[in-house]
Amino acid sequence: MDLFEKIKNNRGPLGQFAKAGQGYFFFPKLEGEIANKMVFRGKEKLVWSTNNYLGLANHPEVRKVDAEAAKEFGLGSPMGSRMLTGNTNYHEALEKELAEFLGKEDTILLNYGYQGMVSAIDALVDRNDVVVYDSESHACIVDGVRLHQGKRFVYTHNDIAKLEKQLTRATNIIEKTNGSILVVTEGVFGMAGDQGNLKDIVALKKKYNFRLFVDDAHGFGTMGKTGAGVGEEQGVQDEVDIYFGTFAKAMGSIGAFISSTENVVEYLRYNSRSQIFAKSLPLPLVIGASKRLELLRDNPKIKEKLWEVAKALQSGLKEAGFNLGNTQSPVTPVFLSGGIGEGANLVLDLRENFNIFCSVVVYPVVPKDTIMLRVIPTAMHTLEDVKYTIDAFSNIAGKLNAGEYRGKEIVAGS
Ligand SMILES: Cc1ncc(COP(=O)(O)O)c(C=O)c1O
Repeated sequence: MDLFEKIKNNRGPLGQFAKAGQGYFFFPKLEGEIANKMVFRGKEKLVWSTNNYLGLANHPEVRKVDAEAAKEFGLGSPMGSRMLTGNTNYHEALEKELAEFLGKEDTILLNYGYQGMVSAIDALVDRNDVVVYDSESHACIVDGVRLHQGKRFVYTHNDIAKLEKQLTRATNIIEKTNGSILVVTEGVFGMAGDQGNLKDIVALKKKYNFRLFVDDAHGFGTMGKTGAGVGEEQGVQDEVDIYFGTFAKAMGSIGAFISSTENVVEYLRYNSRSQIFAKSLPLPLVIGASKRLELLRDNPKIKEKLWEVAKALQSGLKEAGFNLGNTQSPVTPVFLSGGIGEGANLVLDLRENFNIFCSVVVYPVVPKDTIMLRVIPTAMHTLEDVKYTIDAFSNIAGKLNAGEYRGKEIVAGS
């Protein structure tokens, strides 16, 4: 079959909904300053889906530094990959600052978190090694594991007994291959907001020989006393052997990093293909990230504000009878019962009549007949926003339970 013909007929798991959802459920355009309120299709909405946890994307000091750096260096500088022509004192200084902040020996900057994570897994393990990873791991972990040429074992999400079983299998294998074991988990699971059970995972190090790699995309900047993430939160930061964080969430920017021992970081510098064969992170992003880190480090009030909003939102929703699963972070999933069509109509109602914009997750990401509203509080939200949203959610949940969203035509479009 002609490739283009095949693609025409098979649009992929999400692409099959493109006609119904383009511009509304998929690729919506949120306009205006990144804030709690933004404009969607010409109308102001209360937005709960930006991942701008600390509100740094639009912090006035950050905006000033971003703009000055762009003016001074342009967006192209430096050209080339770090290894060849794209290294600068700014990159190295930021790596040092991050390592210090996280209590690690060294850090490597990544031009994108996703690619960086894929490459790091690819670089760290070879065919003799075994990767053991959580079943709800982010796509970048799954794709990294896909590149792995040795055995990989998945364990049921956060199930320590299952992890131990897989570690036993992995140990049997590496005894024959003379390889090593890498365990990979998320710190904060970005979809449902629960934490990787790092404390219990780390305790298994007494029995099994493995290294722990934590993708803390949602925990960096939000969790732990200083914002150093879930390792800090659970008191096991030193036992997190390799720590991944991104600038794309709490830092409100783009780029990412991995912190570990000097030895591991140097190894990654010389072996991570997505960094060796791709352009260096532009200077305005590096300088901007440094400013963001300074604010996170020196201005704890910002994180306190995030948590004030997150706690008010989560306790208010629970009091109103909502099921928030097992969230242990600002990520606030709201689980409702209903099919895909009902979920779509509910979101339409929420957006058009209550002017609330949040993401909706349906089957197959969550079980059949589950609708998950994914609500991300930030330091920019107010307690009035929280109250308004809880009231609106109570209203739509009542309609959902009364069957009002069933069987309606989904009206959306670009
Ligand atoms: C858990 C997790 N890991 C990695 C990434 C990728 O990070 P980046 O946006 O920096 O590529 C994300 C972002 O969606 C994420 O949620």
